Amino acid sequence: MDSIVRVFSEIVGSASSSIRRMLYRGLVRARERGDLMIIGHYLSMLSPSYYGEDLPYEFDGYFKSYPGRRKISLPKPMAESGADVFRVIASRRSRRRYSRSPITLAELSTILYYTVGVTGRAWWGGPKRVYPSAGALQPVEAYLSASKVEELEPGIYHYNPGGHYLEELKLGDYSRILEDIALGQEHLGEAPLNIILTIVYKRTASKYGLRAYRYAHLDAGFAGENIYITVEALNLATVAVGAFYDEELCKLLEIDCEEEIPVLIFPIGRRI
Ligand SMILES: Cc1cc2nc3c(=O)[nH]c(=O)nc-3n(C[C@H](O)[C@H](O)[C@H](O)COP(=O)(O)O)c2cc1C
Repeated sequence: MDSIVRVFSEIVGSASSSIRRMLYRGLVRARERGDLMIIGHYLSMLSPSYYGEDLPYEFDGYFKSYPGRRKISLPKPMAESGADVFRVIASRRSRRRYSRSPITLAELSTILYYTVGVTGRAWWGGPKRVYPSAGALQPVEAYLSASKVEELEPGIYHYNPGGHYLEELKLGDYSRILEDIALGQEHLGEAPLNIILTIVYKRTASKYGLRAYRYAHLDAGFAGENIYITVEALNLATVAVGAFYDEELCKLLEIDCEEEIPVLIFPIGRRI
């Protein structure tokens, strides 16, 4: 108990007056409501003009890349689906049953591109994406666990949006392991493909400080809806899965759970 008090007073002692004010309000409300999460909520309410001046983060670039890993090039994403956007949005559903047939590499390429792909350049030279992003900082990363994708060895891959190619992290069929990580949800184990979205927190926090926890998750939500819409337009099936053991998932993806937060897993397959 003593050590908690010591650590806490050290944090408070070094915080700015605006952070201390919000922390105090959060603590009072947390005591009243019996909900510790409210502390983070109050901290995230600091003005958007606060600009993270007290946080130690530096912008690390718009996307990760894995130099030295094998690159797998992807076919050009489809330019049109032939489906009407209003009909696609209205018919979108979470679909948890998939046939045993594989997904094609063209379908994978199309889904990844319309989830987090680069669509242009901003006036300052940074990329523009298919998803809107707070401060155009683009914290969302996409990984995939392929078990039955044509012309792709089963394995875990990272999508490099700058070059529109995959980077091989490790080979093997990890779909049943993903199922266990997601509390035994069978749709993950049965899907030929699972896409995992993460957020690199410091990318957004480098500008928005304590407000970044909101913004980075919102960015991932926009990218997640892109998966739903693209999959629906391709007449495939998916569901957003938020229930999983974080540390096990980070271990599988070989990422640091504190730096990079896994947000959603999307099993994807053909409809039955
Ligand atoms: C943040 C989030 C987390 C979710 N987590 C799960 C999950 O772990 N497992 C699952 O089967 N569905 C999950 N879903 C899907 C919801 O259950 C589904 O969207 C909801 O029942 C509404 O159905 P609809 O998407 O067909 O409209 C999640 C959806 C969201 C947005």
